[in-house]
Amino acid sequence: MAVRYELIKECKQSGARLGRLHTPHGTIETPIFMPVGTQATVKTMSPEELKEMNAQIILSNTYHLFLRPGHEIVKEAGGLHSFMNWDRPILTDSGGFQVFSLSQLRNITEEGVTFRSHLSGEKLFISPEKAMEIQNALGADIIMAFDECPPHPAEKEYVKASTERTYRWLKRCMEAHQRPEDQALFGIVQGGMHQDLREESAKQLVELDLPGYAVGGLSVGEPKDIMYEVLSYTTPHLPKHKPRYLMGVGSPDALIQGAILGIDMFDCVLPTRIARNGTTMTSQGRLVVRNAKFARDFTPLDPECDCYTCRNYTRAYLRHLIKADETFGLRLTTYHNLYFLLNLMEQVRQAIREDRLLDFRDEFMMKYYGSLN
Ligand code: GUN
Ligand code: ZN
Repeated sequence: MAVRYELIKECKQSGARLGRLHTPHGTIETPIFMPVGTQATVKTMSPEELKEMNAQIILSNTYHLFLRPGHEIVKEAGGLHSFMNWDRPILTDSGGFQVFSLSQLRNITEEGVTFRSHLSGEKLFISPEKAMEIQNALGADIIMAFDECPPHPAEKEYVKASTERTYRWLKRCMEAHQRPEDQALFGIVQGGMHQDLREESAKQLVELDLPGYAVGGLSVGEPKDIMYEVLSYTTPHLPKHKPRYLMGVGSPDALIQGAILGIDMFDCVLPTRIARNGTTMTSQGRLVVRNAKFARDFTPLDPECDCYTCRNYTRAYLRHLIKADETFGLRLTTYHNLYFLLNLMEQVRQAIREDRLLDFRDEFMMKYYGSLN
């Protein structure tokens, strides 16, 4: 198998898992946050900067790279690692989510999804087989099954039919996968907010003995409590010795609570996206450095942070750069936000080692959000 998950210990206080995920491009310590590099780049960051902040694995998108530049070109370049000069692990999402969130006029059939490119308007088609062809060409260490993330809210009948189709698509993905020896195919549990559908989906996937399992269809507008409830009855059905990935989740509270509920991997555009409009995550909570009140604030963004941005620049300077639309400002806030979340996950791992993740959560919540929930 292309990846191997090693469970190191479970937190005695919370049940959270500390592990290592061995991949063809190196080992990842889990729980981990994966910065998002949609277009074969983590927006504004160089690979050297990502390494300096200790990013262990990044995520990229099948949908975007299929549309532009095209997976054949990436393959000709020697694959995504070589194309983008990133020699650490990469995970690609399958396109099953982006095709629904970004494209127009999509039509889902048993065969696959027909849609219009959000770039050219061209009519295109992605099936489970096509998603595997693209991901085999890109060559990421971890690739995702082609699925449908049903909208929320949706009729239970629809979610049931969609989840069953996603399962049939997964079996087609397994059939079509050409590189199981160096690319691990993860299945995606769906089932909306319904316990019976989630449990059925998880059990069906586990029978297929995949190298890893993702939980999809969450963070789609439902309240956080509902997401935690879904996780609490989903993760117990997943095998202890395989990695679990919660897709599209990256707010600090959800990273901690997700780890407590047995998740090992997370990704989200949140830190990079909000950074580019001048919103930052600090040890004292969110800080909108764009705000006028920082015009004469010559202190670091986060006095408790030792990242490149916080060691060298002031809030007043960051505010000025962002207001003036200077790209350096975007780089500095992006660097800090990613550093903040990667560092948060290191603290989560340390708290698991010390069997005190629930205490850590409460301390963090009080400081960041000013309340325990
Ligand atoms: N990203 C966030 N949620 C999902 C999901 O349900 N499926 C896929 N493929 N990607 C996601
Ligand atoms: Zn910082």
